Amino acid sequence: MCGIVGYVGAQSALDVVLAGLKRLEYRGYDSAGVAVLADGGLATAKKAGKLVNLDKELSARPLPAGGTGIGHTRWATHGGPTDVNAHPHLDGAGRVAVVHNGIIENFAALRAELAERGHELVSETDTEVVAHLLAESFSSCADLAEAMRLVCRRLEGAFTLVAVHADEPDVVVGARRNSPLVVGVGEGEAFLASDVAAFIAHTRAAVELGQDQVVELRRDRITVTGFDGRPADGDVRAYHVDWDASAAEKDGHDYFMLKEIAEQPKAVADTLLGRIDAAGSLRLDEVRISASELREMDKVVIVACGTAFHAGLIAKYAIEHWTRVPCEVELASEFRYRDPILDPRTLVVAISQSGETMDTLMALRHAREQGAKVLAICNTNGSTIPRESDAVLYTHAGPEVAVASTKAFLTQLVACYLVALYLGQVRGTQWGDEIQAVVRDLSRIAGAVERVLHTMQPVRQLARTLAQKDTVLFLGRHVGYPVALEGALKLKELAYMHAEGFAAGELKHGPIALIEEDLPVVVVVPSPRGRSVLHDKIVSNIQEIRARGARTIVIAEEGDEAVAPYADHLIRVPVTPTLLQPLVATVPLQVFACELATARGNEVDQPRNLAKSVTVE
Ligand code: M6R
Repeated sequence: MCGIVGYVGAQSALDVVLAGLKRLEYRGYDSAGVAVLADGGLATAKKAGKLVNLDKELSARPLPAGGTGIGHTRWATHGGPTDVNAHPHLDGAGRVAVVHNGIIENFAALRAELAERGHELVSETDTEVVAHLLAESFSSCADLAEAMRLVCRRLEGAFTLVAVHADEPDVVVGARRNSPLVVGVGEGEAFLASDVAAFIAHTRAAVELGQDQVVELRRDRITVTGFDGRPADGDVRAYHVDWDASAAEKDGHDYFMLKEIAEQPKAVADTLLGRIDAAGSLRLDEVRISASELREMDKVVIVACGTAFHAGLIAKYAIEHWTRVPCEVELASEFRYRDPILDPRTLVVAISQSGETMDTLMALRHAREQGAKVLAICNTNGSTIPRESDAVLYTHAGPEVAVASTKAFLTQLVACYLVALYLGQVRGTQWGDEIQAVVRDLSRIAGAVERVLHTMQPVRQLARTLAQKDTVLFLGRHVGYPVALEGALKLKELAYMHAEGFAAGELKHGPIALIEEDLPVVVVVPSPRGRSVLHDKIVSNIQEIRARGARTIVIAEEGDEAVAPYADHLIRVPVTPTLLQPLVATVPLQVFACELATARGNEVDQPRNLAKSVTVE
């Protein structure tokens, strides 16, 4: 949440910062602002609304050129999205500028204290107190990094801060507690950002800051200390970003979401790559939890939010079926507040695309405090969740920019299947040949996803005809139930329509009262093979809702003729084993939501009120 960029070097800081903000706008888009050090002073511009408003402001009132600057794109927490509340925030004299991601929980007390000392604050934000405190501390130590350390020791909550001071024109200082902050190391220049996407066009050499650290950036030197001032040499991680700037471009697509949907076959294949050996056995050496420890586990608990939570719900079916170990799935935001029963024999799996979701982070910390082992499934190298976990299995979706998660979801599913099969392998609950059969199916699945993508034109046409509807319901059974939840979530966040996902068997316990004439109901139908009881039951459910006037949109596998007579619209997906069906059945729902959002004139990549990475609880 909130995107931050800082730059010091020989280029125009304003150009670098604005380009970086464009790449981070997915993190928040309520308002944006920049500050540049030039001509011995500080020049700022900020505007409510998207970056384009800031661009217009800068065209009307250009800032002087300078080589040191910071910028921010905001997802509002304290104070509405107005020009005044936009970042950067300044001290009273206009010598310090600060941008912030996170929440300063004790800001009210700090604000009252500042007011007593005669400071006048102009915004409603929690951030502005930091600018004033930094100015006070700087006036006594004349060192911005030291001032930042002094201030950070007084702050409570989660925050990333980046600041400049007019009296230190070649310095940018950043601080991090919980929220992300990465350094980019260039030749005679340096960058700070919430995400490497902001500076990847300039350098792929990155340094990830640890908890409670302050970094001072100069053109030729980067110095990292703890909040206590001690050098942090052993506790920073330098790494090479293994994707290039083009991975964060739209690449000819109208939206990042469309590009990311199209990238799913590759993302799935990349996530499988190198994890299955020539003999068809799973090789998850990177999961640094020993086989003997995994054999000891008597429970798996999955914690995640939103789309990642839906991946967890599907994982439960796979884990329990392939390993016979009980598995619970919990919304991360609820987890620690219900006093969950955890011990060293519990394997907690934390699923997160961004690796920064605060609810998930807090859940995993709670789990580790109770002695559980935590395995992260994550898409973002070096982010906080994998850093704080006992082990990590990275998904290889590449950068996901659209707020609505698509390729990350499919790769989370693949990673969950791998974990489930691996557990089955080390615990001996699955025979080698059974695992190999599933692995064979998995290795063909990228091709099946590709085939789905080639058949999406009727789904788009159908979506456009539903643009004026108010409600769409989604039904599924077994793994089709979380798919239904995911379809409904996509529609809510993109099309701003009322959408609900239900287990089809629950319909008769209440939700069937919602069915009325021509109400669109999407039904995810399980394979008629193997678990045909489920198939037969859902065909009955479809008939029940049709009898009450629903318009049925049925997702069924190729060759399932039994369901065809009851489908007003039939969307075919390739034949897959039941547990793997979500990998193909979700794709039409993504396309459906994207097309409906477009038809309703909504912002596809940046839906209202949302942000990609949710770093507040
Ligand atoms: O980065 P994470 O996977 O932890 O994010 C979790 C959710 O915030 C995320 O999946 C959200 O629900 C998506 N916008 C849904 O498309």
